Amino acid sequence: MKRILITGAAGQIGTELGARLADRYGPGAILATDIRAPSVWAGTAPAEQLDCLDLVALRDAVKRFRATHIVHLAAVLSAAAERDPARAYRINMGGLVNVLQVAAECVCGVFTPSSIAVFGPDTPRDPAPQSTLQRPTTMYGVTKVAGELLCDYYHTRFGVDARGLRFPGLVSYTAPPGGGTTDYAVDIFHAALDTGRYTCFLEADTRMDMMYMPDAIRAILELLEAPSENLVHRNAFNISSMHFTPAELADAIRVHIPGFEIHYAPDPLRQAIADSWPTRLDDSEAREQWGWCPEYELPDMVADMFRGLGKRLARHGSGSAGR
Ligand code: SER
Repeated sequence: MKRILITGAAGQIGTELGARLADRYGPGAILATDIRAPSVWAGTAPAEQLDCLDLVALRDAVKRFRATHIVHLAAVLSAAAERDPARAYRINMGGLVNVLQVAAECVCGVFTPSSIAVFGPDTPRDPAPQSTLQRPTTMYGVTKVAGELLCDYYHTRFGVDARGLRFPGLVSYTAPPGGGTTDYAVDIFHAALDTGRYTCFLEADTRMDMMYMPDAIRAILELLEAPSENLVHRNAFNISSMHFTPAELADAIRVHIPGFEIHYAPDPLRQAIADSWPTRLDDSEAREQWGWCPEYELPDMVADMFRGLGKRLARHGSGSAGR
């Protein structure tokens, strides 16, 4: 039976993944950790404060909990990384190398997300193959490419059962994303409900690969369960489900909020990041090796986002659904 320690558990992915893992393996089998104190974020699973840059504390937590797996989510996302590249390098690389070292010592499996950001302007854009040029132009991308290589290295050199997925932009309503280039696709829903209008920091026709969080969470669970011998790629699998522009997302929102208005004030930093990424990933190897298949298309996602945000609004009273 798996016993899973999660780092970065208070983030956009961790908030939903922690709950799903607790449902799947039992709350006692999950230890949710984050650099933020649990009093402000913890859900149902046991939780504690942990800085993954502190190797001794990380090792101690893994041993004490008798973890069989580490799900390492703590990271600085793309736009935030460009604002302070040295900090992003320190956190993204330092955290992962500590996790892999402890996993090797304590014989734990590791799951850590990679990203569409591992690709750069030289990569074929539509679709980006599983194995192709990876020459990113962002610090986030640099740390994610190096992270994929580190996971491969710890797998072949020390036998660590490392697994990973290259996520596109993730859309969800439970917890906000923190500093990504794709965050507009979450912010736009809150703005639509709050004020009926949104000013987008990307141009109208910027097509990006995106995924609804329930598909992303299911992908993690399925990859964690996949037989090791089926996996040719360790770090990391391309996965994909939908690709849209801000203008197309606004049209899909108007099906629910007819008067919704979108304006554009592109931010050069985030526009340049978006323009350097492929618009779609070729996920055929994930489909073949562990049965990946997305469920949500744009209209289903938009309908479900409004259902979820509506429920949160009803629970929290007013404002952006408790953000
Ligand atoms: N959503 C991420 C970002 O924009 C991509 O992995 O940084």
